[in-house]
Amino acid sequence: MNGIDIIKKKRDGKRLSKEEIDFFICEMTRGTIADYQIAAFLMAVYLNDIDEEETFLLTDAMKRSGEIIDLSGIEGIKVDKHSTGGVGDKTTLIAGPIAAACGVPVPKMSGRGLGMTGGTVDKLESIPGFKVSLTMEEFEDRVNETGIAITGQTAQVAKADKILYALRDVTGTVENTGLIASSIMSKKLASGSDAIVLDVKCGCGAFMKSEEEAGRLAEAMVKIGKCAGKRMIALITDMEQPLGRAVGNSLEVAEAIETLKGHGPGDITELSVTLAGAMIAAGGKAETHQEGIYKAEKAVENGKALEKMRELIEGQKGDPAVIYDSGVFPKAGVEENIRFTEDMAAGKADCDTYYVNRLHAGLIGEAVSMTGAGRQKKEDDVDLAAGIYLHKKEGETVKLGEILATVYAHDEEKLMKGKKLYMEAVKIGGRPVKRPLIIGKAGDL
Ligand code: URA
Repeated sequence: MNGIDIIKKKRDGKRLSKEEIDFFICEMTRGTIADYQIAAFLMAVYLNDIDEEETFLLTDAMKRSGEIIDLSGIEGIKVDKHSTGGVGDKTTLIAGPIAAACGVPVPKMSGRGLGMTGGTVDKLESIPGFKVSLTMEEFEDRVNETGIAITGQTAQVAKADKILYALRDVTGTVENTGLIASSIMSKKLASGSDAIVLDVKCGCGAFMKSEEEAGRLAEAMVKIGKCAGKRMIALITDMEQPLGRAVGNSLEVAEAIETLKGHGPGDITELSVTLAGAMIAAGGKAETHQEGIYKAEKAVENGKALEKMRELIEGQKGDPAVIYDSGVFPKAGVEENIRFTEDMAAGKADCDTYYVNRLHAGLIGEAVSMTGAGRQKKEDDVDLAAGIYLHKKEGETVKLGEILATVYAHDEEKLMKGKKLYMEAVKIGGRPVKRPLIIGKAGDL
């Protein structure tokens, strides 16, 4: 067997066997297959697709390419939560503490952001002192003591995914259902939880642009997880506009804390309790998803979820003062309010009341990245204080002179770049628009 024959077989649209997939992934991880051959393999998969069985076999081979985490030292049904990546998505920081407050152990391994999508690890680093890289022993101890711990994904988990993902990013082969499903699920299956709640994002700020594609990805990941013996729940949720009002690392942590206090924006509150409800049901602490949602709402109301967040921060050496004093977060060098002026509107509205018709999540993600909050390349540092606060979201009214958004950056140049893209992302007109936030569900619900 050799790599070239495997590439040719996929190039010609044929199915790959378990032996061929195992060989390619194993040799690639050992470094005996060149990057240009891996790139050719990826393009062959992208153009011809892999079927359900090949996707499962690829996931399994990628899972076995690195360390498999043993979480048997943590009692109970351990529940992981994963988002396929969106703009303003801070739900892990809300749903995680809520589920833990309801008795579900949440050992969460998270990544850093890339491009327009943010990463939980970067967000947590905006809390002074917060330790995002725990040893496995510390990770287990924290979950046993607090019920939740969040640590960066170790480089040893699903090593093959690191190689493939880096090349997909630069060869135009990211947006393929089989490749995304195997990439995400190989890491999830290697991370040792018993149940996985997936939030599959759909829209212009996500990898999956249409409901059909997002549905296919959700079904594929649920099937892979179930074949591996995991409890699986997937929600398909809107990513046409950013989630919540805050986009940018420390801004998002502050919004997550406000949401845990019961004062969060409507969309982020709804999605977080829906995800937490799914985690609570998957973790066996509620009979149904609906009962899980009820318990999640109660945990916010009675302050237990906020208290769990405090324990999480303190347990990982972060400064718990952030809970009551947003002044503890890093400060941006410059900030500017963008106000609504008549030339921004398409047409004239009755009584000078206009509506935000569009807040393009993809462009807002890029705008925030331009302020310095995101990475263009993996090695880039992120500015923890930079970002955009959206005072007005889609469907909300705005009058002349009102503030639409505040842009935060280190310097004027970055601020202007973010502002320019924000102006392209926002459309204002005379009619309200409304889209459902939760589009579909799959799995054990
Ligand atoms: N997130 C991943 O981990 N992998 C993908 O392919 C897409 C999103």
